[in-house]
Amino acid sequence: MKPKYPIDSLTIHTDLVLPSETNPLNNLFGGELLARMDRAASIAARRHSRRIVVTASVNHVAFNRSIPLGSVVTIEAKVSRSFRSSMEVYIDVWIEDRESGGRAKANEAIYTFVAVDETGRPTEVPPIEPQSDIEKIRFDAALRRKQLSLVLAGKMNPHDATELKALFL
Ligand SMILES: CC(C)(COP(=O)(O)OP(=O)(O)OC[C@H]1O[C@@H](n2cnc3c(N)ncnc32)[C@H](O)[C@@H]1OP(=O)(O)O)[C@@H](O)C(=O)NCCC(=O)NCCS
Repeated sequence: MKPKYPIDSLTIHTDLVLPSETNPLNNLFGGELLARMDRAASIAARRHSRRIVVTASVNHVAFNRSIPLGSVVTIEAKVSRSFRSSMEVYIDVWIEDRESGGRAKANEAIYTFVAVDETGRPTEVPPIEPQSDIEKIRFDAALRRKQLSLVLAGKMNPHDATELKALFL
């Protein structure tokens, strides 16, 4: 299959935080943000694979900063690495300052999607070639994260997680 670039899958979703989406502190519910990120990430995975995709795992979510009511929230999702049928999608979440228009990073997350055929069976996806420095860093670390995710899901024996073990040796 012809390789693709991370930029080919870039998906940008901008939306407001409405009162029905907030907690008692008037900040965005974590679950609402997870759902928005899942949607953007699934579109990115679909753009990379041009297949039906399903969420296999939410590998990492860092709610570093609360997002107040009325905020303009932008979610940027891009495939950071593809394997045989799975794709790691990296998500950056930004909030826009109303007065200056400047952006501040609020959160980030990493999801894994799997491309499947019409019967739900995993199917091959194109390889990916990172271009920018940040894309190369994310690409390089993705195998380690895949192994960690599989170990935590009980789908890989920790002894076989070579990339992960190399961190500690
Ligand atoms: C995701 C799913 C297709 C994987 O099926 P499976 O029988 O485990 O298939 P495989 O073992 O062949 O794994 C397929 C790929 O997924 C990867 N994978 C499976 N579970 C994973 C996990 N927890 N973390 C990271 N990758 C995972 C495998 O490593 C493999 O990757 P590769 O082909 O790129 O090497 C299957 O579990 C499924 O359909 N789950 C439900 C998905 C869904 O409904 N999501 C929405 C939740 S509401």
